[in-house]
Amino acid sequence: MTAEPLAFRHRHLLGLEGLRADEIDLILDLADGYVAQNRQADRKNALLRGRTIINLFFENSTRTRTSFELAGKRLGADVINMSVATSSVKKGETLIDTAMTLNAMHADVMVVRHPESGAVKLLADKVTGSVINAGDGTHEHPTQALLDALTIRRRKGRLAGLVVTICGDILHSRVARSNIHLLNAVGATVRVVGPPTLIPSEVENLGVEVHHRMSTGLAGADIVMMLRLQQERMQGQYVPSFREYFRFYGLDYEKLAAAKPDALIMHPGPMNRGVEIDSEVADDINRSVILDQVELGVAVRMAMLDLLTRRERTNAQ
Ligand code: NCD
Repeated sequence: MTAEPLAFRHRHLLGLEGLRADEIDLILDLADGYVAQNRQADRKNALLRGRTIINLFFENSTRTRTSFELAGKRLGADVINMSVATSSVKKGETLIDTAMTLNAMHADVMVVRHPESGAVKLLADKVTGSVINAGDGTHEHPTQALLDALTIRRRKGRLAGLVVTICGDILHSRVARSNIHLLNAVGATVRVVGPPTLIPSEVENLGVEVHHRMSTGLAGADIVMMLRLQQERMQGQYVPSFREYFRFYGLDYEKLAAAKPDALIMHPGPMNRGVEIDSEVADDINRSVILDQVELGVAVRMAMLDLLTRRERTNAQ
């Protein structure tokens, strides 16, 4: 794929708050092309040959880190993975010191995940390359929402006018926050459903309808997006028990019946089967697009790496 003149006006991708619909379309259109490339026998091109991408993960991750690694490699870049376990962060080095050290090695793009909201922005302000937020605390996870949008757009042909219901642990979810920003920007209707303990108090201000019962939250929905109960972020008791939680908020066929007959089921993973989603529903090949989300994630990340390095590539020519 040759570099098109279309540039992305941002140096970093830290969140989707404030991103315009035409910018989202640009990313998704480009990603569509990479989906096709990823389905060929030879999945690799040389667009980013000689470039360096550093995956800097201060929090565990399987699919997001692997997805970024594959994306970088399929564009011909050198990809380095750094996780907390192998870094000197454990020896007390600060976030900024780590960033400055890696910056001195001339990374073109740093992909960063961190347990604190705002930490990725702090780091982005200090480095010379581009930074992609791969999830910061409960704040944002922009590439997840972009891959969700691509999955929906490819299945439903559009995003505008759809009713998307996000269910479960909204309070701790950066995925929910990024999705809310994106879906509002493109003209979808967003609902959130969950127990009052797991719905952030200011969430209406983000432009969503709040429901506490699955029957009303799912009524007529085109998309049912389930979220993991993020126990690692919970201090104290947010739900009485997993059994109770599943009874009221776990997605099974009975609750799903309230949504449109062709409603799609999504989950960013990792899933807690039997807690927020019934296994049968999660594996239903006619309704669940959970594995499509994983596939399209690589293409979306290739599109972002392409866009964020465009200005620099054009200057270098
Ligand atoms: C999400 C995350 O890490 O925010 N997972 C992911 O990126 N696929 C959601 C989660 O952990 O539940």
